[in-house]
Amino acid sequence: MQDISINDTKRICEVVKDKYGYDFTNYAMSSFKRRINRVMEIKKISTIDNLLAMIKNNQIAKDEFLHEITVNVTELFRDPSFWRALKQVIPNLFLNQQKIRIWHAGCSSGEEAYSMLIVLEEMGLLDKVEIIASDIDKCILEKAKSGRIQIRKMDINEKNYIRYNNNGDIRKYFQYEKEYAVFDLELLKRVSFREINLVNAVPFTKCDLILCRNVMIYFNQQLQKDVIRLFHESLFMYGYLAIGSKESIIWSDVAGKFLVVNQEEKIYKKYKD
Ligand SMILES: C[S@@+](CC[C@H](N)C(=O)[O-])C[C@H]1O[C@@H](n2cnc3c(N)ncnc32)[C@H](O)[C@@H]1O
Repeated sequence: MQDISINDTKRICEVVKDKYGYDFTNYAMSSFKRRINRVMEIKKISTIDNLLAMIKNNQIAKDEFLHEITVNVTELFRDPSFWRALKQVIPNLFLNQQKIRIWHAGCSSGEEAYSMLIVLEEMGLLDKVEIIASDIDKCILEKAKSGRIQIRKMDINEKNYIRYNNNGDIRKYFQYEKEYAVFDLELLKRVSFREINLVNAVPFTKCDLILCRNVMIYFNQQLQKDVIRLFHESLFMYGYLAIGSKESIIWSDVAGKFLVVNQEEKIYKKYKD
C-alpha cells in the first residue's frame, strides 16, 4: 500500500478537480487515501506522479475513477431497527397532507429506495408518495435503475427483511434470474433517479423526508455542515431527516433547528426555519 502524504492528497484533489470537475477536498482523508490506493492497485500504478499523469492524459475515465473512489456498499433494509423506527414515523408525514415527497441522497445501487418502496407498498401508501433517489456516481445509478442485485447478496437482504418485519419473505418482490434477483419493476418505476453531487448541490425541491445514510461519514466536518444546511433548506417545516448510525448533525449550525425524534436511529424533525 502506497503511503500517501497530505501534500499528495492536495495534488490529487487539484488534478481531479481540474480534469473531472469533482471536488474531493472536503472528504475525510483517511478513506479517500484508501480509495486512491485501491485505484492504484486496480490500475497497477506504482507512484502518485504516474497516477496524476494518467488522470491528466485521459487514461482513467472520469466515471470509472468516480466509481472506484466512492464507497457503494449497501443492503436492503440495512439496519433493520432503523426501518422499524422509520415505519412508526411515516404516518406522521401525512398528518397535514395527502401527498409527500421523499429524497434518498446517496442512494448507491438503490437498495435503500427499494426498501422504502416495500415499506410504503405494505403500508398501502405507495400512491401518495413521490420518491427521488440520487447519487454522484453515474455507474451506480444505472445499476440502481436496473433493479438487479447479485444473487450472492440476497442472503443478507432476506435476513434483514425478516429482522425488520419479524417474518415474511422478501423474495416475493424479486424475479430470480441466473445471477441476479431483479426487483419488481412496477414498484421501481415509481422512483426518479438523478445524478446529484452533494458537494455543490443547491436545494432543488422541498421534501417531507430526506434519507442520507452512510454518506456523510466520508465527508469532513465542513462538508457535513454544508450538506446538513442543504437538507434543512430542502425540507418542509416539520419534515424529517434520517442519517446513518455513525453520523451526527451536532456540529451543524442548524442542529438547533431540528428536534430529535429517535436518537438511536438518528431520525430528526425540522421545527425551525
Ligand atoms: C455507502 S453508500 C450508502 C448507500 C445507502 N445510503 C446506504 O446507507 O446503504 C454511499 C453513497 O454515497 C455516494 N456519494 C459519495 N459522495 C457523494 C456526493 N458528493 N454526492 C452524492 N453522493 C455521494 C456514493 O457514490 C455511494 O453510493
